[in-house]
Amino acid sequence: MASISEKALRVHEHLIEPPTEFREKALIQDPRLYEQAAHDFESFWGQVANEYVTWFRPFETVLQFNPPKPGTKPPWIQWYVGGKLNACYNCVDRHLQGWRRTKAAIVWEGEPGDSRVLTYQDLHREVSKLANVLKSLGVKKGDRVTIYMPMVPELPIAMLACARIGAIHSVVFGGFSSEALRDRINDSQAKLLITADGGWRRGNIVPLKRFVDEALESAPSIENVVVFHRGVMDATLVPMRAGRDHWWHRLMEGASQECPCEEMDSEDPLYILYTSGTTGRPKGQVHVTGGYLVGVTASTRWVFDLKDEDIYWCTADIGWVTGHSYIVYGPLANGATSFMYEGAPDYPDKDRWWALIEKYRINTCYTAPTAIRTFMRWGEEYIHHHDLSSLRLLGTVGEPINPEAWLWYWEHVGGRRCPVVDTWWQTETGMILITSLPGIIPMKPGSATKPLPGIFPEVVDEEGKPVPDGTPGYLILTKPWPAISRTLWGDPDRYVEVYWARYPGFYFTGDAAMKDRDGYFWLLGRVDDVINVAGHRISTMEMESVLVEHPTTAEAAVIGKSDMVKGQIPVAFVTIRQGFETGDGLREELKEYVAKRIGTFARPAEIFFTAELPKTRSGKIMRRLLRDIAEGRVLGDTTTLADPSVVQHLREMYEEKYGEGS
Ligand code: PRX
Repeated sequence: MASISEKALRVHEHLIEPPTEFREKALIQDPRLYEQAAHDFESFWGQVANEYVTWFRPFETVLQFNPPKPGTKPPWIQWYVGGKLNACYNCVDRHLQGWRRTKAAIVWEGEPGDSRVLTYQDLHREVSKLANVLKSLGVKKGDRVTIYMPMVPELPIAMLACARIGAIHSVVFGGFSSEALRDRINDSQAKLLITADGGWRRGNIVPLKRFVDEALESAPSIENVVVFHRGVMDATLVPMRAGRDHWWHRLMEGASQECPCEEMDSEDPLYILYTSGTTGRPKGQVHVTGGYLVGVTASTRWVFDLKDEDIYWCTADIGWVTGHSYIVYGPLANGATSFMYEGAPDYPDKDRWWALIEKYRINTCYTAPTAIRTFMRWGEEYIHHHDLSSLRLLGTVGEPINPEAWLWYWEHVGGRRCPVVDTWWQTETGMILITSLPGIIPMKPGSATKPLPGIFPEVVDEEGKPVPDGTPGYLILTKPWPAISRTLWGDPDRYVEVYWARYPGFYFTGDAAMKDRDGYFWLLGRVDDVINVAGHRISTMEMESVLVEHPTTAEAAVIGKSDMVKGQIPVAFVTIRQGFETGDGLREELKEYVAKRIGTFARPAEIFFTAELPKTRSGKIMRRLLRDIAEGRVLGDTTTLADPSVVQHLREMYEEKYGEGS
């Protein structure tokens, strides 16, 4: 926890009231919502569920909670017991009954500038047809379907088609390597894979189908592959294996538009989404139909102040939880217009996002601090050429935002008229938990502000005792919320161990935080082995286990080094087996090896070869010292080291590369 207090010192008090014009039109203006939720949180979440979600059969009990304990088995957390519903029905069918039938559900632009609009009626047709296609390929309720696609409308169509028939989707981010894809398929034992020939990124082709073919060399559970033709290459050049691979458009040709929604139990899984874990193996978070849908529907409406006439843009990739909850399920369940963009922010030039906002008159922009810092570096001139007056609300997610970046976003993008909602949450939480209701809560740049109504975080010490205001500690949640991940796919014991064992009865987030005297939360980063690189969550342990699989590597330790733009960057310290030569060639080879095994976003920024890693006498690698070296800090206690000269040598090597006090 040494680094936490240092970070805490950087917070500053700077209260910004919600702009009057926004406040006067905000959907939620009455702060009594907080009191009502605090008074009886179960009946609060019961009312929300009835108001925001359409049920085929009403639930009988709002919450049944048996805190996960070692040795016990799920279900531990059940929301809306007895309730029956379908997520696709809520996101699509229920909007067909009124005027929203012809409203744009998805407005999309591809990187080359091609664009499409799908109304709710269009979405219904495409989803129903694909659902029938999946059924005809033998997919049944409870089966897993892996989706590995670029950011095209067919990605949400595929997710909703699964939800419609009760299949559990597992979307794998298109930036993951074929090996990461293979591991995720094998862990979930998916029966079918949906992919595309490829996608566009910065003018280059991302050849997804090729990665799929590599992955499927050792993923025997996959029986069929449905390939959407995005058109990045001629269809005749895409190898299709007879009997296994099928073109999406061919299958859709004859498919019926009639496909009833499967009646799902509240607690039936809706999807699995893998996150990096504290061991090499990724964790399959299991999100269920009822609670998840209630959580994302309500939070989207409250936090983004969704109005029917809005065009709302969440810039995330749907391969991450942000895209699941706030591009697909949350906005569509609300009948909103969700904007999607396929490509890179700097293609063809660094003003692409601002050009999109101007062109489509986008009202809400929800993005990551790392993107904001990148735009700051590129300079305001890219923004000021465009008319951004349509914007009325801004959001951030994924990592702590430094006050400078917050203020830049507020000023240059939002013109000081758009509230900025800094939303704290996780893949595990499914929904935003800490952020401001933009019409009510005054903002403090750098703070995620307050928990949403019905959410109960606390900052505690090692023993689980709440720490005084202004003191950093560990962030926990003292009560469950509807969208919490229910278990880890195939590994319930690990779920208990990671989230519930440290503070029995309470959910442990893995984050450090501080609550100030106004009750505002300041998120201070991870306290486990997870690092956050440009908003992508990576386990250093996962990187280490990949590095030591390389034939030259004896040992590896990976740490996150602070970075002005990306938040953190991965830096590896590696010892080499006898008989191998270190040098730039091997350095590049190891970087490439990690990129290939996990994904390019996990490529180490730097690799240091060292004869030894700093270890305690009992042989434990002291990553804390490596972090101190990387941050240019005074070295912490080195007396427990087996050989203190090791760190001195490392520090010299590091400073040679990055400069003193880097
Ligand atoms: O450390 C927190 C950070 O991102 C982690 C969750 O990462 P992931 O599961 O990939 O989900 C990201 C999108 C929800 C958290 O444990 N984090 C997320 N949002 C914020 C944040 N840290 C500070 N402020 C935030 N707004």
